[in-house]
Amino acid sequence: MTEEEEVKKQTLKILESRSRERGKLIPILQDIQAKFGYLPREAMLEAANFLDIPESEVYSVATFYNQFRFVPPGKHQMKVCLGTACQIKGGKIVLDSWERELGIKVGETSANREFGLERVACVGCCAMAPITVVDDTVEGTISPTRIKGILLAFDLEKQKASEEGKKVKKSRKGKKAKSS
Ligand code: FES
Repeated sequence: MTEEEEVKKQTLKILESRSRERGKLIPILQDIQAKFGYLPREAMLEAANFLDIPESEVYSVATFYNQFRFVPPGKHQMKVCLGTACQIKGGKIVLDSWERELGIKVGETSANREFGLERVACVGCCAMAPITVVDDTVEGTISPTRIKGILLAFDLEKQKASEEGKKVKKSRKGKKAKSS
């Protein structure tokens, strides 16, 4: 099954318990986003068909609210706070640093889907401004150097996982060779 077919199947599942009222579009989009982490094009098309409204109407509603995303999130999502306190403490510099280090713009996901970057409003930790929420962890008084450190830690983690994966493969091969 292709990714598009899977999206269609899952979207139809979401829609089957819904009424076909136009006013239900936003909760439907919220459910779609909760399922996929963003609004895939095929899912918006299914929602339009289901409610019998033009696809353009679904787009215009979805793009009006900044709660909706149109690209898949990264495996690791960086949320840069640009609330007032964080802006005063250099939130914009933090955002620029993330963009430079990740090679993507805010609202985008890296080509390998490893990292996503978004801006958020106050996350309620103003005393530690400027803030970036890395996955679910709040990183306070974040600096360009700390950003490099966070990315390095992800790199090391990935390397370790791949080395462990190789070891497991090797030991399985060893066991197979012994038993044959
Ligand atoms: S403004 Fe960033 S945490 Fe409050």
